[in-house]
Amino acid sequence: MGYFRENIERMAGYTPGFQPKAADVVKLNTNENPYPPSPKVMEVIGRLHPERLRRYPEPLGDTFRAAAAKILGVRPENLICANGGDDLLAMCVRAFCDRQRPLAYAQPTYSLYPVLARIQDCQVIEISRATDWPAELAKVNAPLTIVCNPNAPTADFTPIEQLQKLAEALDGVLLIDEAYADFASDNAMRLVSQYDNVIVLRSLSKGYSLAGLRFGFGAADPALIEGLVKVKDSYNVDAAAIAAATAAILDQSYFYANVERIKTERQRLTESLRLLGLEVGDSQANFVLARYSKGSARPLFESLVSRNIFVRYFDLPSLEDKLRITVGTAEQNKILVAALRDILSEKGNKP
Ligand SMILES: Cc1ncc(COP(=O)(O)O)c(C=O)c1O
Repeated sequence: MGYFRENIERMAGYTPGFQPKAADVVKLNTNENPYPPSPKVMEVIGRLHPERLRRYPEPLGDTFRAAAAKILGVRPENLICANGGDDLLAMCVRAFCDRQRPLAYAQPTYSLYPVLARIQDCQVIEISRATDWPAELAKVNAPLTIVCNPNAPTADFTPIEQLQKLAEALDGVLLIDEAYADFASDNAMRLVSQYDNVIVLRSLSKGYSLAGLRFGFGAADPALIEGLVKVKDSYNVDAAAIAAATAAILDQSYFYANVERIKTERQRLTESLRLLGLEVGDSQANFVLARYSKGSARPLFESLVSRNIFVRYFDLPSLEDKLRITVGTAEQNKILVAALRDILSEKGNKP
């Protein structure tokens, strides 16, 4: 007899992307922003008064909510702060799912969703993204439906009108995971004031270069926010994170400049990979998904690792012939493309 609940005993945990210790590697495996956070963030952290750490933080991160609401064109009551987007995902699965209340989403997508469902011991309904999945998810009509947009790891974008239709069709909650929306041509924030069953997730890990800080938030109707507040940890965002995240979101010009640089590099990287013969779809995120037509992409992944270049390989159905590559700096992308050119030109590897 184990100590854990049966479902915990049985399940495998989430596998985070590898974090190499050495600094002299090209790390394009966890979709971090290659540029540093805003200097204003570093200033705020440097100036943090000890009193801010001695005391408990604002339970709802009101300073951040006030600043973000103005920038996003919503009200502070529409926002809930989270210890990274992952914290918001966990809150939602906890709040809306149980054995009688399944979670639905289209596969392939962010691999944390099924892990959270297993922890909660709720049923999962997976629809293939090769189908008309928005219509299929509407038919399933689950208490919680998650749509990742732009989707990870495929990097493609679903028009907001389709998500709007899905929100209208569902009796349950539609959680739109917009962790990568900063790099997309549109986003679903406007749906928050139109639908009482839509939650939009945002992360400061990608567009704002703050993956190590752990800060994300949800936007939704105030009634949904009030319900989520009941299930969150009492002080789920710390005082330093609230101060730093507020400084980050207020520095919109720095944010836009970096996002534009990444979008430019994304285009260049996509074209370079296509020239090597890899199949790469148009990405609306800060990563691309490249398909190797000769079969498993694992040998390419391993050859890159041996050269200290880290990308992400998923040994999963529909992904085993692909590499997910984070858009790095121009220099990092050049090193990656040159290494791939080398590996692919070796006998027998040409796509
Ligand atoms: C699709 C998706 N959603 C949410 C997150 C959560 O990001 P974070 O917890 O760093 O805010 C990630 C992180 O990689 C992601 O890829």
